[in-house]
Amino acid sequence: MNQADFPVILQHYGQDHILDHYSRLAVDRQKELYDHIAGFDLDLVFELHKDRAQAGGVPSLSAEIKPPLVIPIPRTPEDMDRHAAAKSAGESLISDNRVAALIVAGGQGIRLRHDNPKGTFPISPVKNKTLFQLFAEQVKALRVRFSSRIPLLIMTSPENHDDTVTFFTTHNYFGLEKGDVLFFSQDMLPTITPAGELLLKDETHLLTNPDGHGGSLKALYASGFLQHLIDLGISELFYCQVDNPLVKIADPVFLGYHALAKADCSTKVVRRENIDEKVGVYVSLNGKDAILEYSDFGGLHMRAVDEKGKILYWAGNTAIHVFNLAFVSRLNDHGFALPYHCASKTVDNLRPDGTTGPLDVWKFETFVFDAIPLAERTCCMEVDRREEFSPVKNKSGPDSPTTARRAMIRLHRGWVEDAGISLPSKIKVEISPLFALDKEDLAGKLKGKTLPLQKDMYLE
Ligand code: UD1
Repeated sequence: MNQADFPVILQHYGQDHILDHYSRLAVDRQKELYDHIAGFDLDLVFELHKDRAQAGGVPSLSAEIKPPLVIPIPRTPEDMDRHAAAKSAGESLISDNRVAALIVAGGQGIRLRHDNPKGTFPISPVKNKTLFQLFAEQVKALRVRFSSRIPLLIMTSPENHDDTVTFFTTHNYFGLEKGDVLFFSQDMLPTITPAGELLLKDETHLLTNPDGHGGSLKALYASGFLQHLIDLGISELFYCQVDNPLVKIADPVFLGYHALAKADCSTKVVRRENIDEKVGVYVSLNGKDAILEYSDFGGLHMRAVDEKGKILYWAGNTAIHVFNLAFVSRLNDHGFALPYHCASKTVDNLRPDGTTGPLDVWKFETFVFDAIPLAERTCCMEVDRREEFSPVKNKSGPDSPTTARRAMIRLHRGWVEDAGISLPSKIKVEISPLFALDKEDLAGKLKGKTLPLQKDMYLE
């Protein structure tokens, strides 16, 4: 597109209200608005708008949906042996410098109502460490434990990129090497009304939204970081969301199962707590593993129970994955392969007719888990939610800072008690990742030690 064609293109897409606005602007402002809009793939946006009905990835009624094959939490001696073999395979991957970690942190965090990037939210129960600090310290501890590099990638969005980078810079990268913390931004897409109108956010910008966490796999490629990682000899990417303080970054057991299965993409799942829990569901869909978002899965499937009355499709998506980098490359080789979903939202914005107020809009985004059915081989592993999953989504109620802090305290108290030290019931415990990464690690550190038990405890 060039600026001379801009009015014709706007008319072609039925955007007369933008054209009217454009024609009233001063020449330099016209150029600004043109430059901004020219940065988007309008064909894609209007194609998505047209196809919205099919774009949700909703399985058709004829789709064959079954519970998937999942590696269980180890209970038998055979399970334990398999687990030990996986752990050792994963440890070798890390020691051989073949692993990087990616945290997706580009979301808008609307439900948490935290004005800064979500990773800057203080969450740890005693020290009030932020989510970013907890993750960075885990990476630092792993680097020491395995004498390896583990680059940490943070995906931001244009809306929070600068604030995120500044946060890390101000905190000296929480002790990591500056060159090993890599930031890249996901793309934005114009938000559109159901009638297909683009919306102005201000005089020279459209209202836009981040293109979904699936955009991480696209932006990783487009930013050149994918090739950079491959050039470093890295083959596997540990992936998680910024909202889960219990996540075990680059868990060797998980990496090991993924590697032993030669999987393109692996996922950790937890048992769904109840039929209403708002998690995606890992299923076998027409013979392929897939995750269906709760909103797409349909009430009948979400509520289905087996003959014992237990939730049939029990595998809840933790959004913790490992991706093989060659697979990520393949997803991008012929244009980005992930499908777009459409979310209907209500926003407060300038309406196309010039009035302001609540307005129904459509946001298009890709979901990273849509990569799973595109993989040749997948691997899915069950973990205990009490140990690994307590996301911070809402300001209060379920999945809130309160529930996450409670889960962290319960977990860390359990580690201390498993090390043979009994604790008075009221004491909060927080263990720095730099002190111990897991309960075995902690038991080794506490052997033969006594701890002061009168007040809340921070072990560092
Ligand atoms: C998500 C998953 C759900 C899973 C749950 C586990 C989707 C659609 N659903 O739900 O299957 O069970 O997590 O906690 O993802 N993000 C970006 N850029 C974006 C959008 C999101 O980086 O454009 C990041 C956010 O910062 C956040 C994460 O992705 O860390 C989750 O996004 P959100 O839209 O809040 O998904 P959930 O509804 O929480």
